[in-house]
Amino acid sequence: MAHTRQVAYLNDYDVATVQVDRFDVKNLGSDTAKVQISRIEYSPEAAEKGAFPHFMLKEIHEQPQTVRNALRGRLDLEESTARFGGLNMSTAELRGIDRVVIPACGTSWHAALIGEYLIEELAHLPTEIEYASEFRYRNAPIEKNTLVLVITQSGETADTLAGLRESRRRGHKVLAMCNVVGSTIAREADGGIYLHAGPEIGVASTKAFTSQVTVLTLLAVLLGRIRMLSGSRGREIIRALEAIPSQMERILAQNDHVRRIALKYAGCEDFFFLGRQYNFPVALEGALKLKEISYVHAEGYPAAEMKHGPIAMIDEKTPTVFVIPTDSLYEKTFGNLEEIKARKGPIIAIATEGNDRIATKADEVIHIPATIEPLNPLLAALPLQLLAYHIAVARGCDVDKPRNLAKSVTVE
Ligand code: AGP
Repeated sequence: MAHTRQVAYLNDYDVATVQVDRFDVKNLGSDTAKVQISRIEYSPEAAEKGAFPHFMLKEIHEQPQTVRNALRGRLDLEESTARFGGLNMSTAELRGIDRVVIPACGTSWHAALIGEYLIEELAHLPTEIEYASEFRYRNAPIEKNTLVLVITQSGETADTLAGLRESRRRGHKVLAMCNVVGSTIAREADGGIYLHAGPEIGVASTKAFTSQVTVLTLLAVLLGRIRMLSGSRGREIIRALEAIPSQMERILAQNDHVRRIALKYAGCEDFFFLGRQYNFPVALEGALKLKEISYVHAEGYPAAEMKHGPIAMIDEKTPTVFVIPTDSLYEKTFGNLEEIKARKGPIIAIATEGNDRIATKADEVIHIPATIEPLNPLLAALPLQLLAYHIAVARGCDVDKPRNLAKSVTVE
């Protein structure tokens, strides 16, 4: 990027010939090739570590700004709704949707699960997420008015791309939520929403996750407000979203507190991550972050699910991370926390500021600011990202390029 901001994206079977002052593109399947020239909007520094020791830590700390980027120009306070430029679907088409299917992989699948809860709660639209690798082969019945929304940071994940192509092959409109402008999935979808999170270099996805959840919240509000979602509820959600970036900054200021906890438990070989409702996908995401950069075994579960077997694993050497903000199911989750405590399992709690009672049971507490229930994932994710990061560093792992992993899984 030191020399140009212009980029030409090649399609499958395109061949480019580059000379000093020109380039030509031919497609092996036909004479001509449709070449799309785009402009890279982010600066060269965005793809550098800067003062940070790792890209992952830099990207964790970028999240207040990347959430602002995801919100920019998409809030309609007058109508208490959200708006997107690139959906390529009319309000009538959006109102005609009667089901949403969201194929995705990995962290994007965790964001999709939060999206399922958001769209069902705010728009009362039946929504189901699919592992893209299963969706592409499952021959799932997809009706005419089903919206297929693929979620992918890179826009190049092979299984997600295959899910998009299979849906389009059957005549369905497919929207894509991507971070990489001009990526294959972005170009092949019928419409879509960019995250505007800038390049995510660290293999472990962090800022893309919170940007995906931010955009999914906006989409749920949009779909809700053309159905039954009240203006006051829409406005409440928008106002709460606007407060998220500064609330994230308060969490990131606890970096040293989280690092101290990480150093205390960095030697453990097994972790559980538990949460209920909106906090369950966050627990899954926290487990994945720890697994993929520190190679520590970690599992995420709905908190109540522990009684159905996994609690047999609890002992003094197996910490459980509870995502337990003050919400409608707090007391139920607190009961699960007490069950773990009774079995001498160490507990790390992600709890809402002002909740001092939790310290009577949890060994460690990381507080997050209070927000409305559907937005807790945007805040609870940050301590889990920092915890995984500091444990991985303490264990001497290659945080930005973990073993066996690639940033984008472009093969099956
Ligand atoms: C997340 O930290 C991992 N790097 C991985 O699970 C990733 O989310 C998954 O491969 C999907 O990638 P995508 O969002 O680019 O499609």
